[in-house]
Amino acid sequence: MKQFTSVHDVSNPEALVREALALKQQPRGSLHHIGQHHTIALLFFNPSLRTRLSTQRAAIELGMSVMDYNAGQGWQLEFEDSAVMNIDKAEHIKEAAAVISQYADIIGIRTFPGLQDRERDYSDYVLRQFQQYARVPVVSLESAIRHPLQSLADWVTIEEHRPAYRPKVVLSWAPHPRALPQAVANSFLEWMQRADVELVLTHPKGYELAEEFTQGVTVSYDQNEALEGANFIYAKNWSSYQDYGRILNQDAGWMITPEKMARANNGKFMHCLPVRRNVVVADAVLDSPNSLAIEQANNRTYAAMAVLKSILEGKD
Ligand code: CP
Repeated sequence: MKQFTSVHDVSNPEALVREALALKQQPRGSLHHIGQHHTIALLFFNPSLRTRLSTQRAAIELGMSVMDYNAGQGWQLEFEDSAVMNIDKAEHIKEAAAVISQYADIIGIRTFPGLQDRERDYSDYVLRQFQQYARVPVVSLESAIRHPLQSLADWVTIEEHRPAYRPKVVLSWAPHPRALPQAVANSFLEWMQRADVELVLTHPKGYELAEEFTQGVTVSYDQNEALEGANFIYAKNWSSYQDYGRILNQDAGWMITPEKMARANNGKFMHCLPVRRNVVVADAVLDSPNSLAIEQANNRTYAAMAVLKSILEGKD
């Protein structure tokens, strides 16, 4: 694998899921030879708990050295070509990416969207600029429009709890007090369309996602109907794509409750975390044995290990 920014960078996503599951079975400390003498630089323009720590853990398990940098608090970067840098930006992406490439063998980047300018966000501007100017492979730690490491871990978790038949997987919008990116939802749809599942997307009117991610996906505006017989219920909030970055409603009727879960078929609850309790999901669901949220977070390590190993070995 040359880079990891979306499912399109992976020739066989199912094989990558199998690799993550296999890595999970390996004794701790047995894989250090894979990444020995290699370094990963993790650049965070935005906050993170899971991605930051699980990717470090993955790199350490593979014997790599890790450099972790709060890019959001570092020199402000200029991304525009031919900019006259006489205001606030201290360093251009061209130098920054080239310099970091001399220190690290892989660069990971977390960069959220501004949620103001849809065209700019959906060009995945910051991530693409790093890809253009870095001289080593780039891994997305969640970009403006995708969160592929999360989606890979989600697929791994679904495989571990998969029934003997083709499962029904429902991605449901849920309320939230703040305007959130569409990245997790976009990515989940993109990856699940490569999995052998029945995929259903449900959200209130106005929360339609970009067509490039929903093409071929069954969409329902009726959450109760969508949840009927579901094996996996993935809750996530996102702000409007159409009315870009806006909160159109905070309808508490879309929160995942035990009553909603009762419509499913012994449904497993999923969320990428962090989650707002009793806003997105009721305590009784999140604390139930059917909640996979903590397992999903655990699988972030094995997803990251599979990706880093594939890049280090130069395999697809
Ligand atoms: N799910 C996830 O990416 O969590 P963090 O934002 O804490 O990394």
